[in-house]
Amino acid sequence: MKKHVVFIAAALFALSAVSALAATDALVGACIYKFDDSFMTGVRNAMRAEMDRQGGELEIVDSQNRQPTQNDQVDAYISKGANALIVNPVDRTAAQPLMEKAKAENLPIVFINREPYADVMAAYDKIWYVGAKAEESGTQSGQIIVDYFKAHPEADRNHDGKIQYIMIRGEQGHQDAVLRTEYSIQAMKDGGFELVELGSDTANWDKVQATDKMKGFISAVGIDNIEAVLANNDDMALGAIEALKAEGYNLGDPAKYIPVVGVDATAPALEAMGKGEMLGTVLNDADNQGFAAVRIAVVAADGNPVTEESIGYEITDGKYIWIPYRPVTAENYREFMR
Ligand code: GAL
Ligand code: CA
Repeated sequence: MKKHVVFIAAALFALSAVSALAATDALVGACIYKFDDSFMTGVRNAMRAEMDRQGGELEIVDSQNRQPTQNDQVDAYISKGANALIVNPVDRTAAQPLMEKAKAENLPIVFINREPYADVMAAYDKIWYVGAKAEESGTQSGQIIVDYFKAHPEADRNHDGKIQYIMIRGEQGHQDAVLRTEYSIQAMKDGGFELVELGSDTANWDKVQATDKMKGFISAVGIDNIEAVLANNDDMALGAIEALKAEGYNLGDPAKYIPVVGVDATAPALEAMGKGEMLGTVLNDADNQGFAAVRIAVVAADGNPVTEESIGYEITDGKYIWIPYRPVTAENYREFMR
């Protein structure tokens, strides 16, 4: 009888060593660039949900958009004995010292959402990046505009065969801002449209800033001349829509509608789509990004190899986990509501 129990315990122990879903007692320390960010709040919630399933301990702190604060937070996690780190850098170009802190302690570190440069990723063997290919989201959002203009010739309001558009960009230097802008423009060109950029500016992912910028564009170029608005994320798309609504646009009158696309598929954006205020968005999969980050951290913290089998996600070049984007339009937006 006793032997039997010992055998079962040993078998369970062996199982726990290979299974990522077995309970862990790891302490994972996470830093988010700032809590006041809609998309990253979704990622945070997903991280919590995954750690609840894993049974370990997850601490998450707000880096308040200050890199020095985040550096101190990483030091604090190290001195309290965290077994792995998850970092959403404030400044992606400042990832190197964070990587070095982790490396000095042989501590696994998972970067999320803001991709460190390749040389930083290459300089340590316990470093991973979980994110999404920004190019993909750019292409998909541009394609939504292309499809709309093909289905609605009247969207070319001045009948010149060109799309007169406004671009509202995310934070300067962020890979998602740079690449979404570039690839959405490319997709509209590839769709066969000539383009006229009426305005382009950064609103730092922020709704209020986007409303201000959009109001500025409207008074500079005249609302009648704007045929499309592309924003690098949903908060800014919704901000731009506020400015349009203030002019009586996008409130239901088909003669007063300007197609607006964003990225993220946040709940308020899906709601705006339901009300016909917003044309489309692209799913930036917060759930899977959060789940994958925590799984890697736990598996690595427990000293197990991080493999596709142990984390349940495809791994590229041994260190990158790319979560796919998906176009969200009037046809499928309900699938993403919850
Ligand atoms: C992007 C996301 C933005 C913002 C940003 C923060 O991926 O689309 O809404 O959250 O990350 O780094
Ligand atoms: Ca036109």
